[in-house]
Amino acid sequence: MTMSSTQLEADVTTTTNGGATNMNLVATAAAEKTLLLNTYDRYPILFTRGEGVHLYDEAGTAYLDLLSGIGVCGLGYNHPAINRAILAQTSTGLLHTSNLFFHNHTATLALKLTEITGMDRVFLCNSGTEAWEAALKLARAHADLLRSEGRTMGTQMIALEHSFHGRTMGSVATTHKQKYREPFQPVMPGVLFVPFNDVKALREAFSTDICAICIEPLQGEGGIHPVSAEFYAAARELCDTTGALLMADEIQSGMGRTGKWCAYQHHSALPDVTTLAKPIAGGLPMGAMLCTEEAARSITPGMHGTTFGGGPLACAVALAVIDEIQDANLLDHVKEIGGYFIAQLKALAARHTSIAEVRGMGLMIGIDLHSADLAGELQKRMMFERHTLLNRTSETVLRFLPPFLITRAQVDDTVATLDELLTESEHGNTAQLAHSTVQAKEAVHG
Ligand SMILES: Cc1ncc(COP(=O)(O)O)c(C=O)c1O
Repeated sequence: MTMSSTQLEADVTTTTNGGATNMNLVATAAAEKTLLLNTYDRYPILFTRGEGVHLYDEAGTAYLDLLSGIGVCGLGYNHPAINRAILAQTSTGLLHTSNLFFHNHTATLALKLTEITGMDRVFLCNSGTEAWEAALKLARAHADLLRSEGRTMGTQMIALEHSFHGRTMGSVATTHKQKYREPFQPVMPGVLFVPFNDVKALREAFSTDICAICIEPLQGEGGIHPVSAEFYAAARELCDTTGALLMADEIQSGMGRTGKWCAYQHHSALPDVTTLAKPIAGGLPMGAMLCTEEAARSITPGMHGTTFGGGPLACAVALAVIDEIQDANLLDHVKEIGGYFIAQLKALAARHTSIAEVRGMGLMIGIDLHSADLAGELQKRMMFERHTLLNRTSETVLRFLPPFLITRAQVDDTVATLDELLTESEHGNTAQLAHSTVQAKEAVHG
């Protein structure tokens, strides 16, 4: 460790009280650089509060947040329903019970989650990847059970090219991109990747060796690509022939993001397993793995668990989030405003040759550009010059995951801003960006 906590406090206090804009950011960034594991390349912005669909930095500048903490803050910031639930739970003094005991909210939340997903049983945990790990373990346990009952069932799994299922060892094994897998080899063996939406390849890869087909019904990190109706139906049909599990990762696309509780509800059949996380508890860490009664047969006490998962505070907030989405008809709003947003972006694409395609469902939207450089430039200009947050995925795709509360006026402003920046870029006017980005980086990294 190269910096003591006393020195850090002194630095932060001096620089903050010094009054110069961004000094708290500079001190924080310098301290993090020596203290944190080098996992994140953060943007030079330090947020101090949030309200509705806006975040505010330390200088009080408002940012329109079209990313919502990578799809987490579906109800935006400082939402009264979430605040009420947190206050009510903290007033009981009960933030944790462990899973050795009961508390008031688990069964109510489990009932709600099974109702909205069409699943039968729930396992509550703390993150997306933990929910997906539970799904992977369930697939293996279910296959083991079927074998013990005389069925033929192997231990391999099919996952899709461009998939993303998280950062833990099982999740990276089912994640396609090499950069997430390569440094951690050997990852869990036995995962076959098939090309996205290629029904023929899926049928060829499938056999009684397979215990699960893993899909994201709407791929997020892979660049906002929906699984086709044909592919989904084929995956369902193949699993039905052997008893393998169809597992739908809804960590990014679920909880209302596409205008339905889960993106698989745009198809006609249910999966056997699904996973939820991100917006489920309004910004508190929570994940959930849900499954059918048949899949759940394979799990008995002690086979899986978590210390924190399904704690009273996260459950109370998750209940408030679901109630609010229902009471405020937010699924309808997401459908309506998402459809409008996509239509406006498609009209933008018709005016700008640098846009290859606009894809999305509800408020999970991507603008695919022909150039990765342009995508990077636009994302940074939106953030540093126009104070609008979005991110870039799969190199060329600008991704929007705004809070469910976004309005038409905010959509119109965003599209107008993009129109302006695209026009400037197409005319080669990028000097200003280069200057402002370098300035911002220098302020933080020295
Ligand atoms: C589809 C999908 N699965 C899993 C994960 C991992 O979730 P977490 O980061 O909460 O572990 C993500 C995160 O982006 C995701 O988008």
